[in-house]
Amino acid sequence: MKYVLAPLADFTDAPFRLMCFRGGADAAYTEMASAAALFHAHDATRRLLETMPGEGPVGCQLFGSNPEELAFAARLAESTGRFSEINLNAGCPMQRITRSGAGAKLVESPEKVYSLLKAMKEAVNLPVTLKTRLGPRPGRTNVFELVDAAERAGAAGVAIHARHVSEMHSGPLHLDILADAVSRTKLPVTGNGSVVDLKSARRMAETGVKAIMVGRAALAKPWIFSILKGEDAPVDPVAACGEHLRLILKFHERLAEKFGHLPSKDAFAAIKMHTHLFRYFSGRPGAAALRARLSSIRTLAEIEREIDAARQPLPST
Ligand SMILES: Cc1cc2nc3c(=O)[nH]c(=O)nc-3n(C[C@H](O)[C@H](O)[C@H](O)COP(=O)(O)O)c2cc1C
Repeated sequence: MKYVLAPLADFTDAPFRLMCFRGGADAAYTEMASAAALFHAHDATRRLLETMPGEGPVGCQLFGSNPEELAFAARLAESTGRFSEINLNAGCPMQRITRSGAGAKLVESPEKVYSLLKAMKEAVNLPVTLKTRLGPRPGRTNVFELVDAAERAGAAGVAIHARHVSEMHSGPLHLDILADAVSRTKLPVTGNGSVVDLKSARRMAETGVKAIMVGRAALAKPWIFSILKGEDAPVDPVAACGEHLRLILKFHERLAEKFGHLPSKDAFAAIKMHTHLFRYFSGRPGAAALRARLSSIRTLAEIEREIDAARQPLPST
């Protein structure tokens, strides 16, 4: 079984992906990048296409609803030489994405998914894949049509989050529907949704999927992939947090060489670490206090101080 890091907006940048590759991930995805923004040459979106040496196969995930923009963005991503595949997001329920007809809005229209994937496929040599859901809502399951559209468009695979759009990111999974979708297609299917441990991974594997995609569970534990594979995994979250910070600083250097106007190293580290810091320390004494303090942590020195403090042995009681 292959284990893949899911695309997570604001999280799955190059440093975090590298942490996950070191933690056993077989592949990963970028955060979703707007095809329209790439088309209009926005630097901030171009930065989402940056990778780091040492990463494994990375799929570039695009969102959009315009075939020309998606074809352009797919070509641009391919031209960087960094990616193993180009993925179309047809599942994100956020209003700022669906408003323009992209993300989960596409779930309502398998024919639109077909035409977008076809335009992308014609634009690039890299494999093109789809990430989607079971349908708009329970009672309107159309994943079979969506997978069929992907197959007809020449997609190389489909990742399916085993929930409907209306179910957002929680509540029960519908693994029976996922298993049905797997059995009806020749495409390799990657299963996604609330895989957090061996038990949930086993249940997902029973659907017949070829790979398992893990999102939120990797945030506090980028080494979860090794755990799911039954391999030895590092269990020192404080050391992992320090390593993650080091990669963020390296990434800042890389970006600064390429893109002139970046936030300072201090600000960049604070912004990037902000979303990760307390997760590494969750469950430890003082984690709640750290979470409350987060908004006042603005410099590299302050982040390093937090990590150093966490390194101190816990007082015995
Ligand atoms: C904070 C957050 C950001 C996400 N960003 C993306 C994204 O950029 N593209 C995408 O296709 N899905 C995105 N998703 C959905 C995840 O990729 C995944 O399908 C979902 O979290 C279920 O998997 P999990 O239970 O393993 O987290 C996001 C989910 C979360 C919670």
